[in-house]
Amino acid sequence: MAPDAQGAGLGRAIVEALLEEARERDLDMVFAFTYELKFFARLGFAPIARELVPWKAWKDCAACPKQDCCDETAVAYWLKPSPGAPVFRILQ
Ligand SMILES: CC(C)(COP(=O)(O)OP(=O)(O)OC[C@H]1O[C@@H](n2cnc3c(N)ncnc32)[C@H](O)[C@@H]1OP(=O)(O)O)[C@@H](O)C(=O)NCCC(=O)NCCS
Repeated sequence: MAPDAQGAGLGRAIVEALLEEARERDLDMVFAFTYELKFFARLGFAPIARELVPWKAWKDCAACPKQDCCDETAVAYWLKPSPGAPVFRILQ
């Protein structure tokens, strides 16, 4: 995002629109890989072990030059109660 567009609510609007679409599709969980952990935590996402990310997602990583040394954090937002969901949240 361009620096002069940051902090105006655009990121929240995009993520909330995607969460709404996920609810409409009756999904259980939404995940992302990110360098912006605090932004996603602010929106209710929790960091997760990357092993919890569905295998189907890894095809997007196949061509990435960082696939063997990924430095992004996996985060998830549960749309439905899940016994596998971590109980901790980072809220700051
Ligand atoms: C991170 C980014 C996507 C956030 O989008 P944004 O439009 O600036 O964020 P918003 O204005 O919607 O902020 C939503 C909330 O998150 C918080 N937030 C945003 N970025 C944050 C950060 N880096 N650290 C802590 N809180 C942050 C805001 O304070 C706001 O909280 P509030 O609604 O309670 O006041 C955007 O700033 C960005 O693209 N930054 C450049 C880095 C980049 O390229 N990231 C790519 C994604 S990995």
